[in-house]
Amino acid sequence: LAPTVQLRGGAHLPLLGLGTWPLDDDEAAETVSLAIDTGYRLIDTAENYRNEKGVGEGIRRSGVARDELFITTKFNREHHSKDGVRRAFEASAALLGLDYVDLLLVHWPNPDQGRHVEAVQGIAALMEQGLVRAVGTSNYKPAHLQQVLDAGIVPDVNQIQLDPQRPRIEERAFHNEHGIVTESWSPLGPGSGLLDDAGVVAIAEAHGRTPAQVVLRWHVQQGMVAIPKSSNPERLAQNLAVFDFELSGEELARIYRLDTGEAEIVDSDTFGH
Ligand code: A2P
Repeated sequence: LAPTVQLRGGAHLPLLGLGTWPLDDDEAAETVSLAIDTGYRLIDTAENYRNEKGVGEGIRRSGVARDELFITTKFNREHHSKDGVRRAFEASAALLGLDYVDLLLVHWPNPDQGRHVEAVQGIAALMEQGLVRAVGTSNYKPAHLQQVLDAGIVPDVNQIQLDPQRPRIEERAFHNEHGIVTESWSPLGPGSGLLDDAGVVAIAEAHGRTPAQVVLRWHVQQGMVAIPKSSNPERLAQNLAVFDFELSGEELARIYRLDTGEAEIVDSDTFGH
């Protein structure tokens, strides 16, 4: 099992979990049950992935007790109000077949709507009722998080696109300053370029590991939570096996040289994830 980080409400968030985009219900059921059997305890889904029913089915098939699992879901922009968040939670919980979720995230800030603070307040209200165990955001930039902090709420987690080519150093510093855990989506990078990089391949060979393991180790060794998606049994197992070797400072620095300085995105209209 992956080591965990304890959140303010007491929940234990594993450092490595399973992403489920773009699996459909049938694929999600199969992959989630296999992942849990393999030792995964953190599963990440979203309303927008349209696979929460399959994720719930996979959880039940696995036979692992609910309280040993950490289930995350997210809701879409049309629910950015207190009542909306409650309705979104109820719909997700019904599809998942769960009576609570461990972490609920606002999927995108959609700052054009101006309701990204209200959306987080809606999650905080559900937490008071014991329906969610932790409050989170996704794709929030520091300016959006600052508005949430100004409203008196510290999110437990901000999930952002993060990999060695877009290491989000300033955002991570902001998270650390405020005690917000950074969770990396698409931790292996989009496409396969990162895993074919000669430097990453050389580090992998030096450790007798795969390039993907080196990249995932880069995340977890620095305290980020990584949620790679894989539906391949070997890669599922491989991705979880990153807690028994260590990258040197020099190797971390070498991986940082892959930073492309690429711009970020803040709404789902430009990216369908
Ligand atoms: P596969 O499911 O065939 O393993 P995401 O960026 O959404 O997390 O997706 C990760 C992508 O990387 C998927 O296409 C997945 O394909 C692939 N992948 C996952 N683990 C590995 C690995 N260990 N080595 C190479 N590719 C991987």
